[in-house]
Amino acid sequence: MENPTRTAEHLARIDQRHNNLREELASLIPAKSVIVWEVGSGHGHFLAAYAAAYPDQVCVGVDITGDRIERGIRKRNRAKLANLHFIHAEANDFLRALPPGVTFSSIYILFPDPWPKRRHHKNRILQPDFLNAVAERAGQGARLHFRTDYEPYFREAAQVITAHPEWQIADEPWPFEQLTVFQSRATQHHSLTAQHRAGGA
Ligand SMILES: C[S@@+](CC[C@H](N)C(=O)[O-])C[C@H]1O[C@@H](n2cnc3c(N)ncnc32)[C@H](O)[C@@H]1O
Repeated sequence: MENPTRTAEHLARIDQRHNNLREELASLIPAKSVIVWEVGSGHGHFLAAYAAAYPDQVCVGVDITGDRIERGIRKRNRAKLANLHFIHAEANDFLRALPPGVTFSSIYILFPDPWPKRRHHKNRILQPDFLNAVAERAGQGARLHFRTDYEPYFREAAQVITAHPEWQIADEPWPFEQLTVFQSRATQHHSLTAQHRAGGA
């Protein structure tokens, strides 16, 4: 049976975590910034290279695995990349905690966990609700770039995006190449770019 004290403590801890994240983001990302967001940034290879190539763009990598975020932060510090931040957070929590008016110019999802078993598909990051939440923060001309080595997930992602009223597949070359840890382990991969409809080209 549910223990009301333990449930209340659990909810208080979640609340505290969300408040801490909100404060951390407010201190790093000024309201109304336009950012490049990498979801599941892993060891940070992609975003560190991207931030070095585009010093005028604010780049934010988010991952739920703390030691991967620490590796990313070390890369950032070694390269002295003031336009790059790595945040230890779950992607949907991050979306809810973003400061007001912050929008995305682009979103990268590179080699997301594939969750191959059917009963686990609900854990995949690319879902209609996730696309709704990202669309709310999509700036003018925003693009979502998705890459995976797991073909069934690629097909599902293409279907979810095609069926979504606010996103459409864009026939565009991949904008920036940088080998990630999971890409280096893959024998092949599939990429797609989606354009936020309200943004236009
Ligand atoms: C297969 S790894 C790919 C890492 C990196 N993008 C690469 O290509 O090497 C997936 C990453 O997504 C992170 N991740 C999974 N679900 C997440 C979520 N809901 N929010 C944030 N990060 C997540 C995992 O911790 C892991 O680092």
